[in-house]
Amino acid sequence: MTDSQYLLQTIQSLLNAPKSGEHDPYRPIWHFSPRVGLLNDPNGLSFFNGEYHLFYQWNPLKCEHGAKAWGLATSKDLIHWQHKPLALAPTEDYELSGCYSGSAFEVDGKLELFYTGNLKYQEGGRTAYQCRAQLDEKGVVTKLGPVLSLPEGYSGHVRDPKVWKHCDYYYMVLGAEDLQKRGVVILYRSTDLLQWEKCGDIYGTDINGKQDDNFMLECPDLFALDGHDVMITCPKTWIDVDDKATETFDVEVTLGELDYDQAIYNTTSSRLMDHGFDFYAPQTFEDDKGRRILFGWMGKPDEFEPYQPTIEYGWIHQMTCPRRLTILNGELLQQPVEELTTMRRNPLSGMCLSTSLIGLSAELLLQDIDGANVSLELSDDLSLLVTPSAVTTRRKNLKTGLWEEKTWQGKASSLQLMRDHSCVEVFINGGRAVMTSRFFGHAGGREQQCGFRFESDKALSYQHWTLEV
Ligand code: FRU
Repeated sequence: MTDSQYLLQTIQSLLNAPKSGEHDPYRPIWHFSPRVGLLNDPNGLSFFNGEYHLFYQWNPLKCEHGAKAWGLATSKDLIHWQHKPLALAPTEDYELSGCYSGSAFEVDGKLELFYTGNLKYQEGGRTAYQCRAQLDEKGVVTKLGPVLSLPEGYSGHVRDPKVWKHCDYYYMVLGAEDLQKRGVVILYRSTDLLQWEKCGDIYGTDINGKQDDNFMLECPDLFALDGHDVMITCPKTWIDVDDKATETFDVEVTLGELDYDQAIYNTTSSRLMDHGFDFYAPQTFEDDKGRRILFGWMGKPDEFEPYQPTIEYGWIHQMTCPRRLTILNGELLQQPVEELTTMRRNPLSGMCLSTSLIGLSAELLLQDIDGANVSLELSDDLSLLVTPSAVTTRRKNLKTGLWEEKTWQGKASSLQLMRDHSCVEVFINGGRAVMTSRFFGHAGGREQQCGFRFESDKALSYQHWTLEV
């Protein structure tokens, strides 16, 4: 397809989009969601030309995966987003199966974009090119073509360039599957952004003593934060669920140190980044205030995607809220950026054993919950159970109707819940753990707009706000 054919089809898809707004009970009001089509990974996150830039994996033509484009929205406050012209459409011969994920950073007044040109062969098999493009201050994107083709020793799964500058070099990490079907992160460097030299496989299966069954690492991110080099990866492996081989969609965060000279990443600690049902392919960037901010895809490409009821309204999936990352006493914290507090309205607080709170876009803070058993209902298909030693999200599966659970093991002292119609992000103990999930059931009488209802065996002190934009 040429650029203009792709654009004409995108316009057609937008013109045929079902009306959203008050008819669509699932549309978040302050989380970013696509007007039509399927959204997945955040890409090219950056602060450029006085605005936050949120590029994203987008199939504007249908609510299915396929040859992805890069959509773009910008914002001055991380709350109100404005849709911008389509940034990258998969129209060149090196990217016909999709302009896959990648990153952005500013050099000499232009935003440099690096992404993967994905190419699947008709006879089977695939290859990947790492490509470069630039966005200028007028918002015009120019594709500069591939800078790297598939390196030897890897399958066609080499993608998702994250690029940054350190001392005299630009560095790029790529997620890959090697020919032994092991998931690795490859490091490259360059002085001019055109010629890239391979430094080595710095992290992954059988590297530096790491043992696992991962066959691929997607969307690597590597950055310095508070004296650590933080690595985020999405390891892909298979696990048995009810005797069925099931692909995992976890996100792992690792603290350690990147030895740039030896091209090796030394891990000091590693854990899951989110304990809910819907969090994948996150990316971070540093903003003009020096904050490290993360957005994640609040979704995953599992077999249950086609059952999401938003498809009826012409769209599927959304982003997480922007979260600030910090490290405190060797622990990574994720917290909603402070801008989000400007949405707080109708403050309500109290201390009680049980209550129901109105508002489907709302924030609830529960403090001093240590030792309590709490049941917290958000809708008839999602609730949280807090015990003195764990927090569990229970959700009804969209296809089977059976309840499923995700548990974080630990003592919860405080919970901050950010709800936006069909999603919730639960920040435990000031962001030491997070649980992110979508849900589509009816709130305890959606007509009553009841967003949270809790019952506890110990009186809980709470603060509640509705969130408005
Ligand atoms: C992760 C991912 C990336 C890829 C993109 C394609 O969700 O599979 O590895 O670049 O999505 O949309």
